[in-house]
Amino acid sequence: MPAVCRKATTDDIETLYELIKGYAEKGIMLPRSREMLVDQLEWFIVAELEGDIVGCGSLCRLGQDLVEIRSLGISDGHKGQGIGSKMVDYLIEEARQLDIPKVMALTYEVNFFQKNGFEVVQKEIFPEKVWKDCIHCKKLHCCDEIAVLKMLG
Ligand SMILES: CC(C)(COP(=O)(O)OP(=O)(O)OC[C@H]1O[C@@H](n2cnc3c(N)ncnc32)[C@H](O)[C@@H]1OP(=O)(O)O)[C@@H](O)C(=O)NCCC(=O)NCCS
Repeated sequence: MPAVCRKATTDDIETLYELIKGYAEKGIMLPRSREMLVDQLEWFIVAELEGDIVGCGSLCRLGQDLVEIRSLGISDGHKGQGIGSKMVDYLIEEARQLDIPKVMALTYEVNFFQKNGFEVVQKEIFPEKVWKDCIHCKKLHCCDEIAVLKMLG
């Protein structure tokens, strides 16, 4: 059975919390509190494989025409099987449904996003992101994440 992407529900909160916590401990994702997950649940999706949650991802609206892919992660043992790409496709379809033409991410996984049709851009073209999140980040002036963008046709 292939993995299936779907919207997260309240039953997924604990699993989401643990999955994201694991990535945050490795420094590849920002941690998310349970409260934040409850508040933002409508923006989260999960990938389910034979009854197990093996991946998660979310959208965050940064402006009228811009949305960010966040908290995208696939569990160890399930990477490299196309599940991450399936989640990106699902999130892009959600952005399309909302009529949001620009989807961006800040990432270390540039090759993965390029394979999914994103291009590398300067993060300064997203003042919405810089003023909303980056100014609160201790890496503001030494950020090593790469900005990627996909324009939806
Ligand atoms: C990045 C991540 C989401 C990719 O998910 P995945 O399910 O392993 O990716 P896919 O199997 O869909 O890969 C799609 C393509 O990208 C390539 N790819 C995936 N990860 C890659 C990597 N780290 N380096 C180079 N290429 C990569 C795959 O080889 C594949 O190429 P192909 O189509 O030519 O075979 C996953 O590796 C992950 O959870 N990483 C840790 C968390 C993280 O860094 N998330 C990004 C936060 S923005």
